[in-house]
Amino acid sequence: MSHLDAPSIIRTKRDGGVLSDSAIDWVIDGYTHGRVADEQMSALLMAIFLRGMTPAEIARWTAAMVGSGERFDFTDLRRDGQPLALVDKHSTGGVGDKITIPLLPVVMACGASVPQAAGRGLGHTGGTLDKLEAIPGFTAELSKAQIRQQLRDIGAAVFAAGELAPADRKIYALRDVTATTESLPLIASSVMSKKLAEGARSLVLDVKVGRGAFLKTEAESRELAATMVDLGNANGVPTRALLTDMNCPLGRTVGNAVEVAESLEVLAGGGPSDVVALTVALAAEMLDAAGIDGVDPADTLRDGSAMDRFRALVAAQGGDLSRPLPIGAACETVTAPRSGLMGDIDAMGVAMAAWRLGAGRAQPGEPVQFGAGVRIHRRPGEPVAAGEVLFTLHTETADRLPAALAELDGCWTVGDAASAPRPLIIDRIG
Ligand code: URA
Repeated sequence: MSHLDAPSIIRTKRDGGVLSDSAIDWVIDGYTHGRVADEQMSALLMAIFLRGMTPAEIARWTAAMVGSGERFDFTDLRRDGQPLALVDKHSTGGVGDKITIPLLPVVMACGASVPQAAGRGLGHTGGTLDKLEAIPGFTAELSKAQIRQQLRDIGAAVFAAGELAPADRKIYALRDVTATTESLPLIASSVMSKKLAEGARSLVLDVKVGRGAFLKTEAESRELAATMVDLGNANGVPTRALLTDMNCPLGRTVGNAVEVAESLEVLAGGGPSDVVALTVALAAEMLDAAGIDGVDPADTLRDGSAMDRFRALVAAQGGDLSRPLPIGAACETVTAPRSGLMGDIDAMGVAMAAWRLGAGRAQPGEPVQFGAGVRIHRRPGEPVAAGEVLFTLHTETADRLPAALAELDGCWTVGDAASAPRPLIIDRIG
């Protein structure tokens, strides 16, 4: 493979050509091991962003990323003498998308086991790991032995991808700072490389559609879903996807600790109706994919069994739910200029406000503020009284508040009529 070189590969894609299998294998291996430089991979990612990839290129790029690291296999694990029903879910990235936090305990309580390689925030979207790490003591740096033990003993482990698809770890961080996140081939290969390597036997994808999603049109989101479903099925992991609305933030919180607090409300049988509905819908898909029937996932929220599983999961990963969640002490509110009905809330505006408050990163590897986030007191369609608080912004550093307030400006309305409701679940693919 030594006849290959990075400038030629970049040039091929820059000029709209198709990368050969050997070029893809070479560049992924070279980047993983430091023989291809960040600036060369950045240029290639931008060329891919602009030129796209064929389905065959995406499949090879994904396989090369899987092959850059270990591939877990948990099929030997047994509970009560039975093989584990290993299933996972992944979202393409949303705003206020805390669904993994209540979802995992729900499916654990129904008998499924979830090996979840989770991500950190990317671009404007939050990451499950950044949220869970807001729980004092919680760690996602798990050894393979610990992941196996948790799967066997309690039915789930949420871990940083670590040695799974290390090429994705590097490329993911580079995309975040080179404006190359919003690319169908790069999202599909990033998601599926981790999911094919983590040891799940079936997979449910939550593909976001709308203003707060990476890909803005429904047509693009459909193509992304179909691409990932095909990648999963072709690699022996039966995969299906729900297309779900991401025009407005999910629930009433966007950030880190604030989203954990809201997830605890859902696990206690309350919480916003959209978060509950999506949790239950995705749980039903996961249980069906795992071959588990005769259980109603919604019951586990009502009877406290999902909360028990969440406590077990958090305790296994060092977290202490008896300590307060670190909600940022510096805060500012936005109040209603008039009475009426809350109109649409633009997910992207709220995401950018949360990011400015410190919930996400501006530099790779930077720590996030666990206490940063936005509380949404009125959801679209709810009645509003003049002067009442519509949003509360939290941060650990008060000088971030003005820029966050500016992001919220113009991304919500109060009017006389409610905007037409949109379905939360748009379609099912696969
Ligand atoms: N989630 C991922 O793991 N990768 C992406 O590119 C987007 C969402």
